[in-house]
Amino acid sequence: MKASILIVDDEKDTRELMARALGVDYQVTTAPDAELAIKALEADPSIALMLSDVRMPGADGIQLLKAAKKMRPQLACILLTAFGTVDLAVEAMKDGADDFLTKPVDLDQLDLRVAKALKTRALEAEVVSLRSELDVKHGLADITGTSEAMQKVFRLIQQAAPTQATVLIEGPSGTGKELVAHALHSLSQRANGPFVAVECAALNGNLLESELFGHEKGAFTDAVAKRIGRFEAADGGTIFLDEISEISPSTQVKLLRVLETRSFERLGSSETIKTDIRIVAACNRDLAQLVREGKFREDLYYRLAVIDIRLPALKERPGDIPLLVMRFLTEFAAANGNRVTGITPAAMKLLESYDWPGNVRELRNAVERMVVLSPGGQLDVGDVPDHIRTPAAPIPSVLPAGTLEATEKAKILAVLEQAGGNHSRAAQLLGISRRTLYRKLDKYATESQQT
Ligand SMILES: Nc1ncnc2c1ncn2[C@@H]1O[C@H](COP(=O)(O)OP(=O)(O)OP(=O)(O)O)[C@@H](O)[C@H]1O
Ligand SMILES: [Mg+2]
Repeated sequence: MKASILIVDDEKDTRELMARALGVDYQVTTAPDAELAIKALEADPSIALMLSDVRMPGADGIQLLKAAKKMRPQLACILLTAFGTVDLAVEAMKDGADDFLTKPVDLDQLDLRVAKALKTRALEAEVVSLRSELDVKHGLADITGTSEAMQKVFRLIQQAAPTQATVLIEGPSGTGKELVAHALHSLSQRANGPFVAVECAALNGNLLESELFGHEKGAFTDAVAKRIGRFEAADGGTIFLDEISEISPSTQVKLLRVLETRSFERLGSSETIKTDIRIVAACNRDLAQLVREGKFREDLYYRLAVIDIRLPALKERPGDIPLLVMRFLTEFAAANGNRVTGITPAAMKLLESYDWPGNVRELRNAVERMVVLSPGGQLDVGDVPDHIRTPAAPIPSVLPAGTLEATEKAKILAVLEQAGGNHSRAAQLLGISRRTLYRKLDKYATESQQT
C-alpha cells in the first residue's frame, strides 16, 4: 500500500510539479491553502505526511503546522521555504516540523527527505506500540482473575485501550470499574497525559456542569473567578465519568454534544473550546434499563457504550476468590510486617462460599482486617469475621428486640442480603441513598473491628 501525502502550496505550478514527482511512489492529495489542508486531513485519516509551503495567503505554513500537529500528533511534516524564511522554518522544528526544504525544490532531495521523514515516523510508531505491549502487562497486572468472565474483560481492555473509542464500564459496586478505567488509560497512547476522574453522583446540576465545563468569572453567583473544567484539564488524556447514570437530563444533552463534537463552552462563555480527550464512563446500575424507563437518553447511551465492558459480581465467579485472597493477603501481610504467612484450606473454603455483596472491595477489606487482627502464622477459621462464617438469617418478620440502632443494623443487613448484595437496590428498598447506606456499612465494619 502506498503511503498518503498531502501537498500544500498556493502556487499551482509548484504544487503540481511536486505532486507529479511524488505521485510515482505515494498517494498524493493537494491543497492550495491552510484551510483546505485541514479539511483534507480531516477527510483522510490515512495521510501520513504533510508537505507545506511556509508563506501562503491566509494562515501560513507554521500556523497550519501547529493546527495539524494538534489534530494529529503522529503526522510527519516538512516545510518548504523560500530563501528569506529559513529562520522561520528552523524555528518551526520546535513546533513539530520534521524537516524543511528550500525553494526552488530539488526533486531528488524532495524524494529522499519525504522517504526519510516517513521512515522516522514508522520507527516511532513501532516504539510506541512496543512500549504499550510492555504496559499491557503492567496495567492489567493490577486486575486479578482467571475466570472466563474476567478473561473476556482482559481481552476487551486490550482491544479497546489503544483506540479512541468511548468505553462504558458496567458492574455492581466494588467489582473493579475504576481499576479497569485506569488500565484503559495506562495502556493507551495517552498514558503520559492526565487521567481525570469525575464522581458524577457527588455533584448535582449546575455544580457538576461547572466542574465538567468550567466557568467564566460571574457566570453564576458563586463564580468569583474563572475556572477551567475537567474536560479541559483532561486534554491529551482520559476523562473518567463515574456513576454516569446520575447526571441530569440537561447535563446529558451537553455531554452528548461533547461526545459528538469534542467541543463545549465554559458556563457563561460563548467561546467554543475543543479538547482531545478519551471518554470512559462507569455505572453500577443497568443503564440500558434506565434508557427503557426513559430516565437516560438513548442517543447518549449508544454514544457512551461504543465498547461495553461488563464486570460480573464476585459471586458469579467464585473461582477467582482464592487468587484474590492470596493477592490481598500478600499485599497486607507485607504492609504489616509479614507475620501472616498464609491461610488454611478451611478458612479459604469459608471465604469461597460467602456471597460478597460488596464484591472485591468487601473481600479486600475482609482480608485486610483478618491480617491486621491475626497474631501471625496461617489465617484460620477463627480469624474469619462472624458474618462471613455464619450465613445471614432470613429477614425476620418481627425485628429482634434491642436498641434502635441494632434493629436498624439487622434490617439493613437483611435487606442487603435480600437484594443479592446490590447496594443500589438495597438502598432503594430501604428508602435511603446509596451514600447513606455506605456510611452505615462502614460504621458497622469499624464497630465490629473494635469488638
Ligand atoms: N479484579 C480485581 N483484582 C484486584 N483488585 C480488585 C479487583 N476488582 C476490584 N479490586 C479492588 O477492589 C476495590 C474496589 O474496586 P473499584 O473501586 O474499582 O470498584 P468499583 O466497581 O469502581 O466500585 P463502585 O461502584 O463502588 O465505585 C479496589 O480496592 C480495587 O483495587
Ligand atoms: Mg468506582
